[in-house]
Amino acid sequence: MKGPTSVLAASMNGGQTVRVAAAGDLHVDEAGREAVATAIAAMDRDADLILLAGDLTTHGQPEQAAVLADACRDIATPIVAVLGNHDLHCGTDRELTEILRDAGIVVLDRDGSTATVGDACRVGVVGVKGFVGGFRHHTIPDFGEASLRGLYAETGAEVEALAAGLREIAACPLRIALLHYAPISDTLVGEPTEIWAFLGSERLAAPLLEHRPDLVLHGHAHAGRLQGSLQGVPVYNVSIPVMGQDYWLFELTAARSLSSTLH
Ligand SMILES: [Fe+2]
Ligand SMILES: [Fe+2]
Repeated sequence: MKGPTSVLAASMNGGQTVRVAAAGDLHVDEAGREAVATAIAAMDRDADLILLAGDLTTHGQPEQAAVLADACRDIATPIVAVLGNHDLHCGTDRELTEILRDAGIVVLDRDGSTATVGDACRVGVVGVKGFVGGFRHHTIPDFGEASLRGLYAETGAEVEALAAGLREIAACPLRIALLHYAPISDTLVGEPTEIWAFLGSERLAAPLLEHRPDLVLHGHAHAGRLQGSLQGVPVYNVSIPVMGQDYWLFELTAARSLSSTLH
């Protein structure tokens, strides 16, 4: 692991520098109790803000969420998370959210998609799970069976929540979008193209392009690629299997709205 290299320079430029530790697809269960506690403690040590990009649990069982909650309860660094599809598997997402919030984790979803961290909204985070839909002309249409159109509509609701959240944090010096599903296909490369439609939706990119946050994070695509770009907006797939390590550390500097990756 390399240490921060531009904190002093940013400070001399009058910029606000924030270190963000990010990870997705933790898939926590009882067997991983010690490992997740170690990883969260390391993030606490290294970062000013911890972001978790969904699939926090293996199957969405409340006792699995409790393992993550135990790891986070005494952590001083703010933790913001979204749920992933694995967290919804048992239909217990409300209970999961309660368990995580009781431990101090800010869980964002469609109904409450923004969090601000630091004085004067130093960092604004908008978080939505996102959903499926596809990319590059291979997309699920708003056509035909009600079930298929329902799926299209569900992605639409995620897109609208993302857009509304980005409008809410527009005045924050640093703005981050946190998702589980991918908004671009750059970060899916490595996954079979046949399943890209289940890994994300290009419809999620529209509000990101309009508002151009400083950093976009997602997970879900375990075999995808770490780094991508949405017409200059940095997008990272911070799925743990992709990173090959417990988290990625970003340094964001508000003065120039630049994001740089440390490791
Ligand atoms: Fe996952
Ligand atoms: Fe997932």
